[in-house]
Amino acid sequence: MMTAVEVITAKRDGKTLSSAQINWVIDAYTRDAVADEQMSALAMAVLLNGMTGTETADWTRAMIASGQCLDLSGIDRPTVDKHSTGGVGDKITLPLVPLVAACGAAVPQLSGRGLGHTGGTLDKLESIPGWRARLTPEEIRRQLVSVGAVICAPTDGLVPADRKLYALRDVTGTVESVPLIASSIMSKKIAEGASALVLDVKFGSGAFMTDLGRATELARMMIDIGRANGLATRALLTDMSVPLGAAVGNALEVAESRAVLRGEGPPDVVALTVALAETMLASVGIDDVRPAEVLASGAAYETWCAMISAQGGRPEDRLPEAKYIWSLEASQDGHLFELDARAVGLAAWRLGAGRARKEHPVDPAAGVLCLAKPGDRVVAGQPLLEFHTNDQTLIASAVEAVMDKVTVSPIPPAPTPLIRERLS
Ligand code: URA
Repeated sequence: MMTAVEVITAKRDGKTLSSAQINWVIDAYTRDAVADEQMSALAMAVLLNGMTGTETADWTRAMIASGQCLDLSGIDRPTVDKHSTGGVGDKITLPLVPLVAACGAAVPQLSGRGLGHTGGTLDKLESIPGWRARLTPEEIRRQLVSVGAVICAPTDGLVPADRKLYALRDVTGTVESVPLIASSIMSKKIAEGASALVLDVKFGSGAFMTDLGRATELARMMIDIGRANGLATRALLTDMSVPLGAAVGNALEVAESRAVLRGEGPPDVVALTVALAETMLASVGIDDVRPAEVLASGAAYETWCAMISAQGGRPEDRLPEAKYIWSLEASQDGHLFELDARAVGLAAWRLGAGRARKEHPVDPAAGVLCLAKPGDRVVAGQPLLEFHTNDQTLIASAVEAVMDKVTVSPIPPAPTPLIRERLS
């Protein structure tokens, strides 16, 4: 017979929790037999004292066991998924999933909504008229067989312990624990049932982990959890100090993703999409297809249209457009020096693209278009950013968010690689 206080005090005193203690506390919390205040005390003790690799693997397994895993058996293509730790303008999932499917794999991508300055894939796709995020496990299976690509909301039974615990961590200052983040992400990915996973772990001002060292620690921990649970996991560490591409905001990012799928689009979005696709395909042994060629052929765009249509969306329809567009101009000639991702994400959020609370709606048309990237030559009066919104009164606070964070200088910044490291 265990008690929550016993488990909390053990972790508070720096002890290693046993598998039995971890299984018990996660199961009891999911059944409401451990109270929120007890679980938040335990989460704080974990944040302060950490968990060993074994504890983190046990914690992940206990979270997976709190619900049902998706059954992807019988799908006749190799299954592979990708997870990004989130960033500003990070719409890569949108072109990547149909691209990898067009290259011969099946991609089950259960995604989330935006909270704070980073956008959510489901919010972006919901700007497409008719598109539906919620699918049953059977609909997911059927779409993986017919199209090879699904992007949808997590099914109700998938890791219920994480749904409760993540909401609790969000309001108790305990999100930033590396073992809790790693087990939260990996429990959902393992429960999805794919045979391989590629992580895009971001660092820089627009990322969840601003520091490369902590991002590397998180990536290594997630790779270890994947390996311990039979999920082949690789990771790319990528720079998120500048927004990805030009578009930040829901419909704006869908439009940019469609451009990428039609063989156009900003070079950084294309490069990261292709690099992640190559890594995903390599991790399931598909090495005779070149994603860059498939993208250029239009096959990935066809798969995109089939994927969106299968979920009720009208892929070619006009996307929502904002009533008001306001430009921020360069104050002098020179080079764009800084384009801070966090500030641009915050500006888009303030224009209505994001939500402050889970139940808030988003404005699908709101956001920011970055018309220049660091290093570009600019002249005084040239528009650098475009603010899109349906509520003109929001523009002033969006401008305030980017003040001193979008700068022009006589000299260009030193170039930085987008992909810093690859781990497997
Ligand atoms: N994303 C998740 O799914 N979980 C976390 O803990 C953090 C980011």
